[in-house]
Amino acid sequence: MLILDGKIASLHVKEKLKAQTDSLVKSGLRAPHLAAIIVGNNGASETYVASKIKNCEEVGFASTLIRFSEDVSENDLLSKIKELNNDDAIDGILVQLPLPKHITEQKVIETIDPAKDVDGFHPVNAGKLVLGLPSFLPATPYGIMLMLEYFNIPAKGKHAVVIGRSNIVGRPMSILLSSNSKFGNATVTLCHSHTPNLKEICLQADILVAALGRPGFVTADMVKDGAVVIDVGITRVEDSTAKKGFRIKGDVQYNEVALKASAITPVPGGVGLMTIAGLLTNTMQAYQNRIKP
Ligand code: GUN
Repeated sequence: MLILDGKIASLHVKEKLKAQTDSLVKSGLRAPHLAAIIVGNNGASETYVASKIKNCEEVGFASTLIRFSEDVSENDLLSKIKELNNDDAIDGILVQLPLPKHITEQKVIETIDPAKDVDGFHPVNAGKLVLGLPSFLPATPYGIMLMLEYFNIPAKGKHAVVIGRSNIVGRPMSILLSSNSKFGNATVTLCHSHTPNLKEICLQADILVAALGRPGFVTADMVKDGAVVIDVGITRVEDSTAKKGFRIKGDVQYNEVALKASAITPVPGGVGLMTIAGLLTNTMQAYQNRIKP
């Protein structure tokens, strides 16, 4: 059984980006620049954004972190995004989700310039993804594709089952796995809360992607012998023995499923790190698109 180590695969991506950035800077150009916006002080969002900023530094990117309090008005947030859209020194913009209830997430997403939308959430980028046109891919599904590529696991001709149809992970994942690309070309089944016979469908999966956000949902009796199992779950569960009072649990019962799988991602240390690799790759792409004469 192969452990799909996100640390190794993301390091490979980051080393390539660092070398690219170093050579850009050496040739007198500026480095790519990511602006991240965080609203309020949701603990998980704080951790993710801090990690995104730290990873920018590691590959030599510039980064700007913009903080707003929980009660920021939607207008003030949108004004800041428009300012960043018009700032030539900024290549990528991300607004960490979720946002407070009084702010309409879709409005925020649609205000980001699609050319700087390194999360790939803007309808223009989502539409291009569906049509197979070049676009910014949502970071988590993109990171999973980078992981399959790193470990040389082509999906071609396989049956991939994705559990969860979110705009951020499940739906774009199903499109990427079915797309006509080097590591795509799978036959894909997208399952969700209204899918009957979920267990029977999962048992047919050569590649099983669990992205529903329910800790420990996928058990060994749902997994075919030799399947590749990708766990996207990162739920905080209480744990009084842990220093922070919680630990991160995936959507897959790792210990029992690992005995049946041919390859499996750990949590933490799997897909989460690849999400960052996807985001950084998008930021480099945004930079390159923008500096073209
Ligand atoms: N919240 C959970 N995942 C993501 C992500 O990939 N990007 C942003 N901006 N927010 C998120």
